[in-house]
Amino acid sequence: MKTQPILTINGVVRPLTAASGTVLLDVLRNDYGLMATRFGCGAESCGACIVLVDGKPVYACTQPADSLSGVSVTTLEGLATAGGLHPLQQAFIDEQAGQCGYCLSGILMSAKALLDLNPTPSRADIVAALDRHLCRCGAHVRIIRAVERAAAAMASKSKRS
Ligand code: FES
Ligand code: FES
Repeated sequence: MKTQPILTINGVVRPLTAASGTVLLDVLRNDYGLMATRFGCGAESCGACIVLVDGKPVYACTQPADSLSGVSVTTLEGLATAGGLHPLQQAFIDEQAGQCGYCLSGILMSAKALLDLNPTPSRADIVAALDRHLCRCGAHVRIIRAVERAAAAMASKSKRS
């Protein structure tokens, strides 16, 4: 008997009931009501759909969900905790880093992957990590500043604790 694929999404184990080959983006939005992850191009060209799969950025618009059985998926909905917003979310608010906001959930997820791996990134590291993302509003400068601000806030918090 074939075992039912499962995904752990933002810490919750979810059975996968979508038809085989359904992309992760559709599963997140249509089956689980997780609407933060956005559809932009559907072709790995804009980054609006990026989520973390076992901590690494993945294009949810093209990745079949059933190919991911057993992995851990993090979406923007999984960033904040009971203690409050993630420092990246706070920094994006503080820097007013975005205009329409459409690109931001993917960008926040790539930025999280970067800071998890490299808590003190240079500006060049940030630019490289966000290179796959398009922002039609042209908010790039504020977005980069926000990631720098989050990194600084996280570093100062870890020094205090
Ligand atoms: S919607 Fe996935 S990269 Fe554009
Ligand atoms: S803030 Fe509008 S696309 Fe980036």
